[in-house]
Amino acid sequence: MAYNFKRQIFGFMDMLRFVKLVPKRREIFAETPATPLPASYKVNETAKFLHPGKQFVKIDKITEHSSDVKTFVFVPDGEKTARLAPFRAGQYITVTANVGASRVTRAYTLGSSPKDALERNFYSVTVKAAGILSDYLCTQAKVGDVLEISEPSGDFCYEPLRDKKNVVAVAGGVGITSLLSMAKAAHEGSEDYDMTFFYCVPSAKEILFKDELDAMVGDRFKVVYVVEKGDLPGCEKGLFSSDLVKKYAKVPFTLFMCGPDGMYAFVRKEIECFSPEIKDVHASPNGIADRKVEEKKTFKLTVKMRDKVYEVPCRNDETLLVAMERAGITAPSKCRAGGCGVCRSKLLSGEYTAAPGRDKRRLADFKFGWIHPCCVYPDSDVSLDVPQG
Ligand code: FES
Repeated sequence: MAYNFKRQIFGFMDMLRFVKLVPKRREIFAETPATPLPASYKVNETAKFLHPGKQFVKIDKITEHSSDVKTFVFVPDGEKTARLAPFRAGQYITVTANVGASRVTRAYTLGSSPKDALERNFYSVTVKAAGILSDYLCTQAKVGDVLEISEPSGDFCYEPLRDKKNVVAVAGGVGITSLLSMAKAAHEGSEDYDMTFFYCVPSAKEILFKDELDAMVGDRFKVVYVVEKGDLPGCEKGLFSSDLVKKYAKVPFTLFMCGPDGMYAFVRKEIECFSPEIKDVHASPNGIADRKVEEKKTFKLTVKMRDKVYEVPCRNDETLLVAMERAGITAPSKCRAGGCGVCRSKLLSGEYTAAPGRDKRRLADFKFGWIHPCCVYPDSDVSLDVPQG
């Protein structure tokens, strides 16, 4: 009885409130100026700045290190892009360009520092002439050319909650850029760690950015040149080793590596002696190369993309993504290393082999037949549905 009475009282009060609500709203509408809402809000502008998707850049400067290695400085083109997106040291961008009849994409790690983007509005990447797009950049691209690039991506970055305060960085050959960016970030104070940097090269003439590295040496940054053959004053001769780590670095540390896949296996073996203390090891993912095959074959690759169907040849030593790009199909891609999922496509039929250690699909994708064409080689004719193309 009391409960019912309470309900009636509250119901009555709600009705009274509602009756007052309508004139109150009318009052607010009458007082509101008849001006349109803003086209964009601060929060949308910030989101767009942080994640622009595509960016358009002009080549501002090209530095030639050798006949096949060049560093490119990119600035905004000033028309479609005014400010470059900020990034974290260790991240990469993808560059997309038309090369002949193909539209190709390639990922390059950023060698400039986060502050260079934020305060000086430029990125730099270092390119070795190997592969369609890298060859094109090294031989044909010139100052003033405009390129389409992606926003920065990647998780090869220092994480203060996960990683130790001491970082051991091991770089091999041209694969120095992401670690160079991390070294600059530590030196500039935008990231908080101490770095011991082992730069391993076959001979002294292959050392890149020596002046920049030497200029950063101080309390927080140490560089050790490890030269296999030849001589360089003050360098360590031979190969990277656990003894060098004991000599120069503080333990415990987190290891970051950037170089060829063979170097990763070698370095992992060398630091085994620090186990179990050292378990944080991060390797910058490399692009996926052609595979070695005993007998070269060419299969038919059928690609369904939006309302079109393409039939293109695909060699058994190249990935499905490379075959599509070679045939001029604009297939989506980003990391080109099996990890980001941007190229994710539905396998309709066919046999394939994924590049060892590169297949980072979700379990559900394994189960329901989705693949990452950037890391898959054909073993028969293959049919694909590419949903994001
Ligand atoms: S492009 Fe990143 S997984 Fe294929």
